[in-house]
Amino acid sequence: MISIRRARPGDAAGIGAVHVAAWRSAYAGMLPDAYLTNLSVVRHAAQYARGIADRSDGHAIFVAVASGADAPPGRESGMVVGFASGGRSRRPATAEGEVETLYLLDDFRDRGVGRRLMRAMAAHLAAVGCRSVMLWVLAANPTRWFYQHLGGRLTAQEIIRFAGMDLQQMAFLWDPIDSLLAATAPVREG
Ligand SMILES: CC(C)(COP(=O)(O)OP(=O)(O)OC[C@H]1O[C@@H](n2cnc3c(N)ncnc32)[C@H](O)[C@@H]1OP(=O)(O)O)[C@@H](O)C(=O)NCCC(=O)NCCS
Repeated sequence: MISIRRARPGDAAGIGAVHVAAWRSAYAGMLPDAYLTNLSVVRHAAQYARGIADRSDGHAIFVAVASGADAPPGRESGMVVGFASGGRSRRPATAEGEVETLYLLDDFRDRGVGRRLMRAMAAHLAAVGCRSVMLWVLAANPTRWFYQHLGGRLTAQEIIRFAGMDLQQMAFLWDPIDSLLAATAPVREG
């Protein structure tokens, strides 16, 4: 079983581990090897511990936890396999809410978990009063097609300086936020 829930303080180490594994997988060839090699689970766990405690500006982190038969061997009681975070937008002129991160372990992709995490973020942001939502993705990241598949509309592009490189990033927008809730509604079987 894979459950989605609000992150708790004890999830910080698991979130840090997913962050490092997903960045090394998703950004290989996009970001410098030295940058990816130097990512630290301990350092990111400490950042996410602060993020879990921070509820200002509508901030929230949701985790996907695998348990039982879906968990890796030896981790049957539950393991963080993905997460998403967000809050009120850093660009309020573009959208009121923002999804800031969305990452899964490779073995848990293509099972609907990304959609469920996006839905949890959209529902949370709508509940704190955001009427629209945006996110940034590197233009070279094929995940951008996932956001377009969920109905995100390309609304801005810019070059950022990150890890010593100039990188193009794109912003996708859902306005109204209900359009993301509709695109991530649970699929009825049968
Ligand atoms: C992006 C990511 C979260 C998607 O999660 P996922 O669990 O694999 O996706 P889902 O199984 O929920 O897919 C939902 C739908 O999107 C589609 N989809 C998934 N990834 C896609 C992609 N890269 N391009 C186009 N469509 C995609 C699926 O086919 C599915 O379609 P359906 O409507 O027919 O069911 C995941 O692939 C990931 O962690 N990627 C690497 C990390 C990353 O780059 N994060 C983004 C940083 S901005």
